[in-house]
Amino acid sequence: MLLAANWKMNKTPTEARAFVREYLVALPRDVKTPTVILPPFPALTVLAEELEDVPPEKVSFGAQNLHNEVKGAFTGEVSASMLKDCGCRWATVGHSERRRIFGEQNEFLNKKLRAALSQNLTPIYCIGETLEEREAGKLEEILVTQLTEGFEGLSSASVERTVIAYEPVWAIGTGKTATPEQAQEAHAFVRRTLADKLQVNARKMEILYGGSVTPENAYSLLSQKDIDGALVGGASLKVDSLLSLLAASDRVLQEKK
Ligand code: PGA
Repeated sequence: MLLAANWKMNKTPTEARAFVREYLVALPRDVKTPTVILPPFPALTVLAEELEDVPPEKVSFGAQNLHNEVKGAFTGEVSASMLKDCGCRWATVGHSERRRIFGEQNEFLNKKLRAALSQNLTPIYCIGETLEEREAGKLEEILVTQLTEGFEGLSSASVERTVIAYEPVWAIGTGKTATPEQAQEAHAFVRRTLADKLQVNARKMEILYGGSVTPENAYSLLSQKDIDGALVGGASLKVDSLLSLLAASDRVLQEKK
C-alpha cells in the first residue's frame, strides 16, 4: 500500500516545511503505509532537509513532473538527475493535467519514463479516461493505449519498477469519485493488460487509485482487491486529512492485505 500526496501547484517552501513538521509529529509510530509527498519543485530541497532522518518506508518525496532530456537548452524544465540530486525517490509522469493542459502525449511520456528510470527514480505513471471516452465505451481502449504506448520498448524489469495510478479524469478535483466497483473493475483490467500485453509480473506491481479520494471514501476504495493505494490531490493538503487517509489505509492493511 502507498499513499501519494499530489500537492499540484500548492504550498510555498515555507508552507511545505510547516506541513511536514506537523505531519511528522502526528505520524503514528507504528504506521504501516508509506507516505509519498509530491510538492512543487521549489519545495523539494525543503523536504529533503525535513525528511533527512525519516526512513523512506515512512515518508519519502518526489516530483510531479520531469523533462526527458538529460540537460541543455530547455528553459523552464527540470531533469531526472536534478531531482535525484535533490533526494527525490519518485517522479510522476503523465498526470492528466499534464496530458490535457500541457498536451503531453504517450510517446513523450515514454521518454519521461525512461529518463526517470535511468536515474533510479520510481515513476508514478498516471493513466485514465475522460468522461466522454467512458461514455463512448472507450475505457478499455484508452487504458490499453496509454499502457502500451507509454511503456513501448521498456524491459519487463523497468515496467515492474513503475507504480501505476489509475485516475479517471472525470473524478479528479470534481468531488465525483468512481464507485469502489468501478475503480476495482478498471484496476483489474489494468493488471490484466500489464500481464497480457506487456508480459510483466503484474501481481507484484502497485496500482493506485486517484480522483476525489477523501477520508470518507478512502476505506471502501482501498479495500478493493486490486487497489494498492491512492494518489490524492485536494485531500492531501491538510495534515489532519492526510492522516485520516493514512489511518484508513493502515486499517485495510491490518484487515486483509
Ligand atoms: P484530487 O486529485 O484528489 O484532488 O481529485 C487527484 C490527482 O489529480 O492526483
